[in-house]
Amino acid sequence: MLLHSNHTVTGTILVADDQLSNRELFYELLTAEGFEVVTATDGVEAINQLSRVAVDLVLLDVVMPQMTGFEVCEKIKADADTYLIPVILVTGLSDKENRIEGIRAGADDFLTRPVNRTELLARVRSLLKLKHRTDELERAEAVLFSLARSIEGKDPYTHGHCERLSQYSARLGEQLGLPEDQIIALRRAGVVHDVGKIAVPDAILLKPARLTPDEWAIMREHSVIGERICSPLKSFRLVLPIIRHHHEKLDGSGYPDGLRGDAIPVTARVLQVVDVYDALTTDRPYKKAFSTSDALKTMKEEVKKGWWDPQIFDQFARIIKSTDSLSRGAAAK
Ligand SMILES: [Fe+2]
Repeated sequence: MLLHSNHTVTGTILVADDQLSNRELFYELLTAEGFEVVTATDGVEAINQLSRVAVDLVLLDVVMPQMTGFEVCEKIKADADTYLIPVILVTGLSDKENRIEGIRAGADDFLTRPVNRTELLARVRSLLKLKHRTDELERAEAVLFSLARSIEGKDPYTHGHCERLSQYSARLGEQLGLPEDQIIALRRAGVVHDVGKIAVPDAILLKPARLTPDEWAIMREHSVIGERICSPLKSFRLVLPIIRHHHEKLDGSGYPDGLRGDAIPVTARVLQVVDVYDALTTDRPYKKAFSTSDALKTMKEEVKKGWWDPQIFDQFARIIKSTDSLSRGAAAK
C-alpha cells in the first residue's frame, strides 16, 4: 500500500461475496478510486486469495456458501500472517445480531446494504491509513529483530539462543500467570535483549577467554545501549525494562542499576532465569555445555546466594524437568 503525494490512500482490497452483482458493484466503485481489487466467490476462496496476494483490506459478505463471513473473519484474525489486515463485514440493514457476532469474530468495521458509496470509501480509506501505520511499525520491528539476529549470528556458540529464549520465557511467563501483554513483551525481549551488543567490539564479544575488568565494563553497557536502541518503538514499552534489567540480581549485585528483589521487573526476572540456563547448557569458548541436571544444580546454588528469584526458578525447573530438556539437541543433554 502507498500514500500518494496528494494523500490519496491506495491499496489492494479483497472483496468476498457470492453474488456477482455485489462483486461487480464493489469492483467498479473501488477501482474507479485507484484501488487494486481482487475477488472471491466464497469464504474458502477468500482464504486462498489471502495466501496468494498481499491484501491490505478485506470486504466480507456475511452470508456465503461453505464458510460464512464470520468464520472467514475469525480465521483471518487468528492467523499471525493476516490478523493485522482490517476486515469490513457487509451486513443487512439493522442487523444488530450480526453486528454483535461480527464484533466477536474480530471485525474492524461494518457496512450495511444497500452500500452507500461515500460511506464505503470513507471507511475503506480510514482503515487503510491505519493499516499503513501498522505496516511501518512492523517494518521497524522487523529491522530490530534482524539486527538482533545478526549480532547473535556473529557468535557460533550462541546459535539459536534468541529463539530459545523467546519461546521459553513466554512459556515460563504463561506458567506464572503473567498477563498477555507481558507474555508478548517476553517473546520480543527474547529476541532483542542483547541488541546492545552491537556496540561491543568483536574482540571482546568473541574473546575465547575470560574478560578483563575493563572489557567487562564495556560488555556490561549492552543492556543500557539495547534499551536506548529500542526506546523509539512505542510497541516496545514493556520490552524496555526487560532489556535494561536482564542482568540485575536479587541481592543488588547485578547491573546496570543494582536493583534488589521486587524492584527488578518480574519480566526481567523471568528472562534472566532462562538466559542463565541457556548459557550454562551451551558450549562456550571457555567451557563445555552443562547437562540439564548440572545446570539446574548450579542455578539452585545461585538462588541460595540470592541471585535469582526462587519462585520463578522453581517454576522453570519444573518446566525443564517435565520437557526433559530444551529442544536444542546435543547441547542440553
Ligand atoms: Fe545480556
